[in-house]
Amino acid sequence: MPLDHHREVNRANWDSRVDNHYASELYGLDRFIQDPGFIGEVVSFDAKKMADVAGKSLIHLQCHIGTDTLGLARLGADVTGVDFSTKSIEAAQRFSSECGTPGRFVVSELYDVSSVLPETFDIVYTGVGAICWLPDIRGWARVVSSLLNNGGFFYMRECHPIVWTLDDERDDDLIVVKYPYFEQSDPQEFSEDTTYTEGGKLSSPETFDWNHGMAEVLQALIDAGLRIDEIDEYDSLEWPTGPINELGEDGRFRLAEGRERLPLMWSVLATKV
Ligand SMILES: C[S@@+](CC[C@H](N)C(=O)[O-])C[C@H]1O[C@@H](n2cnc3c(N)ncnc32)[C@H](O)[C@@H]1O
Repeated sequence: MPLDHHREVNRANWDSRVDNHYASELYGLDRFIQDPGFIGEVVSFDAKKMADVAGKSLIHLQCHIGTDTLGLARLGADVTGVDFSTKSIEAAQRFSSECGTPGRFVVSELYDVSSVLPETFDIVYTGVGAICWLPDIRGWARVVSSLLNNGGFFYMRECHPIVWTLDDERDDDLIVVKYPYFEQSDPQEFSEDTTYTEGGKLSSPETFDWNHGMAEVLQALIDAGLRIDEIDEYDSLEWPTGPINELGEDGRFRLAEGRERLPLMWSVLATKV
């Protein structure tokens, strides 16, 4: 299906980030290549929260360059990664052969995945900066549900929606709410010619994003036929933003003071019933 203007612009932006990310320390592709047991920080964190993935079919929505997808493959899952950025999918395929871990990678816009891939899976996995790019969380939840086998599970760990509301351009570390918490039909528009890794300027700096409140996400999953088994909130984040700028020895970012004030990430584990 042809994309609307907002997602066309976002796709160009994500295509333009790929070379920087592929070469970056943050994504750390070399570590996967040098150590066949390395699964990456994101999957190490999530593996403690999920049921065993070994021997299960798993689809990773918005998989980007496939680092987390292949981390899950190294835990024994039979993985499929999907993303609407052709450059991301080509990079993921190249990375899969460079690191010697097999995975299937397919180009698809999120809302089209069920027509591009007619099969269903034991596990749907997503997160860490994924759903903020989607305009309609109820439609997303229906896609998640349609991809799951009955009894299969869904797991997501995401940036907390309260974090997306914060003014990230202050230099005084004050926590100031500036952007919407609840899903809006009109997106927020930004232009940033750098990405969250090191590397050169982006050729397509414009983006559009949407926030989704926690209840909106959970209710959408429930209404799509999932049973919520576990939710959690965390005081750390994978990347720095505004007042969340203290890097810990674990490579995660936190508020420098008063960490009990604000959740920075959250996760949900749910079962298709
Ligand atoms: C921050 S990455 C999330 C993946 C993973 N956490 C990571 O950091 O590698 C966001 C991904 O969402 C993809 N994306 C954004 N909007 C999308 C859409 N409408 N359909 C499919 N993929 C989309 C982008 O291409 C990008 O690869």
